[in-house]
Amino acid sequence: MSSPEERVRLHRGRTLEAMEAGSAMLLFGAHHHLRNNDSEYRYRQHSDVLYTTGWTWPEVAVLLRPGAEQPTVMFVQPKDPEREVWTGLRPGPEGATSDFGADEAFPYGELGERLPALLQGIHTLYYAVAEDADRDALVMGAIRKARRTARRNGLAVPDAFIHPGRILHEQRLVKSEEELELLRRAAAITVEAHTAAMRRAAPGVGEHELEALIEYTFRSQGGNGPGYGTIVGSGPNACVLHYVDNDRTLEDGDLVLVDAGCEFGWYTADVTRTFPASGRFTEPQRALYQLVLDSQRAAIELARAGRRFSELQDAVVKVLTQGLVDLGILTGRVQDLIADQAYKRFYMHNVGHWLGLDVHDTGAYHVAGESRELRPGMVLTIEPGLYLAPDDEEVPEVFRGIGVRIEDDVLVTDGDPDVLTGALASSVEEIEALTSAG
Ligand code: GLY
Ligand code: MN
Ligand code: MN
Repeated sequence: MSSPEERVRLHRGRTLEAMEAGSAMLLFGAHHHLRNNDSEYRYRQHSDVLYTTGWTWPEVAVLLRPGAEQPTVMFVQPKDPEREVWTGLRPGPEGATSDFGADEAFPYGELGERLPALLQGIHTLYYAVAEDADRDALVMGAIRKARRTARRNGLAVPDAFIHPGRILHEQRLVKSEEELELLRRAAAITVEAHTAAMRRAAPGVGEHELEALIEYTFRSQGGNGPGYGTIVGSGPNACVLHYVDNDRTLEDGDLVLVDAGCEFGWYTADVTRTFPASGRFTEPQRALYQLVLDSQRAAIELARAGRRFSELQDAVVKVLTQGLVDLGILTGRVQDLIADQAYKRFYMHNVGHWLGLDVHDTGAYHVAGESRELRPGMVLTIEPGLYLAPDDEEVPEVFRGIGVRIEDDVLVTDGDPDVLTGALASSVEEIEALTSAG
């Protein structure tokens, strides 16, 4: 596996190369958030900072200046032996230059006073304006100061602001080999965790126990933990899209929907499986499960270079709508039902999203008003679902309360789609074999 330093050096080099002469990019780290009173959530760095530097500590700013003598300048928490007793070692500015690729590094507290000089000669600043009022004030204050000096020396001062995402988020969309190594590892651990959960599931087992087993697997295999809130929804909870309480007990006859992904090296998988608590699908459950699976396979087949992202959703909608008609859940002509978006009552989200450092990763879905063409190196989830509300009296009773989603992570290649999570059971037979094995 490539070293983290090599990986971020490569990324930062590409970013610097994509920037025009006379521009600079200013990135800030994520904020630290309180959970309650003075207790903090575990810190997770902003993905743009991870991508360009690998720096994982709070209070950081990164300034990139292509063509400058010191292209990478970092502002980081200074070393502080007294604080480090409480919160652990900090690399400090020394560590930023020795291990994180900074050409120069300063204490974070010096950002405001040093920025005016560093922005001299820069006409365009890649900076996320209007996301954080305090940071905006600091940056605008620095520009005001730089402007005063410019009156004397005639050097450019930023007068154009562009969101860093224009460069960085488009770069993040196409994964390097080094990133794919991490995504593959995240996917493998996730497959192991879902497999363990399916084996353990049985009537009488708590949703929370499955959550614990899944997250135990993530951490024990060296992952950072879940890349987003783990969902274990049994019975009617499978129909709640963002269910995170995970506190019901599985009952005989339930379907269990598990949406969980391991984050490894800051890259996350995102996988959903739906399985019967007691090892056998009922007939209505099997019919809906197979329908969702068929729609997912149709979309995966289209995850190829040159196809547009919207083609995947169109394929899912077509398969699901036809199936819902065949099952007597929708009535009418398939093409009219598609035009009227009748499926939206049961399939109300999109086919998937980009995947990487963020579970909903960066990169535009539309380019010049058209759905984006897929390219080798893009990774996306494909996650169709059907959710038939328990109280929907217009649906045949046998289908009420059934929720199914199947989600895999797919790499677009020069050839066939590469399903990174393809080792996980997904056919009815595979799922039943695993869930009845416990
Ligand atoms: N688990 C978040 C998603 O599936 O998009
Ligand atoms: Mn997803
Ligand atoms: Mn998911």
